[in-house]
Amino acid sequence: MSKRIRRHVDPSQCRVAITAEDWLQAYRSHGGGEIWLDLGCGKGEFLAGLAALNPAIFFIGVEVRRAIAEKYFHQYKDLPNLLLFHGNVNLSIPSMMDGRKVRRVFIHFPDPYGGKPRYRKRRMVNENLVEGLCTILAPGGTASVKTDDQALFEEMDALLSDRLEPLPIPAAPPGSEPVLTEWEKECLSKSIPVYAREYRLKPSRLLRDIV
Ligand SMILES: C[S@@+](CC[C@H](N)C(=O)[O-])C[C@H]1O[C@@H](n2cnc3c(N)ncnc32)[C@H](O)[C@@H]1O
Repeated sequence: MSKRIRRHVDPSQCRVAITAEDWLQAYRSHGGGEIWLDLGCGKGEFLAGLAALNPAIFFIGVEVRRAIAEKYFHQYKDLPNLLLFHGNVNLSIPSMMDGRKVRRVFIHFPDPYGGKPRYRKRRMVNENLVEGLCTILAPGGTASVKTDDQALFEEMDALLSDRLEPLPIPAAPPGSEPVLTEWEKECLSKSIPVYAREYRLKPSRLLRDIV
């Protein structure tokens, strides 16, 4: 029996789309700069940890489960460089962004449906999302993907590698980063393998902006 841990949500039930108006004012008050984005941020703990360590960077997280957002996000409201939203990533990317400001995107343990074909439509990482990422990533910007589901990783890897440049070596071995997500900590504590890769925006994508 698999040791993986699964909870169930149907993201398509959430029709909330984040817009640039939701974050631009706070971003300008912060002084602008690069943005790091967490898609499916859960309780927001991971992004809050990064925000505390990197005050010059502006962080935005989006989580589809309203109950999680209402219960946990308020505790981080004093961090001036962090905004956490309840909303559906698939209705918000790329329209919520304002130009190519996103330097890093985290897609960590993005959905609980694994390889089950009947849940395919519910998956966060699909062609539209990856195409959207290609239009919001800043030059040199990266997307980081992690999951404990090998089949799902292989599908996401194929989609992302098609449009972005896969980086040959992980930026850091799994578990060694200064801040880990809730699910990564859980996997580490149970010795569950994590499949991880980073992808960089191809310079050729920027040429399309000019043409
Ligand atoms: C398995 S949890 C992982 C949470 C966190 N990233 C971590 O690594 O601990 C996946 C999260 O993605 C959220 N999610 C799934 N699809 C989403 C979507 N379309 N928009 C926003 N959040 C989504 C789920 O509600 C859930 O909280």
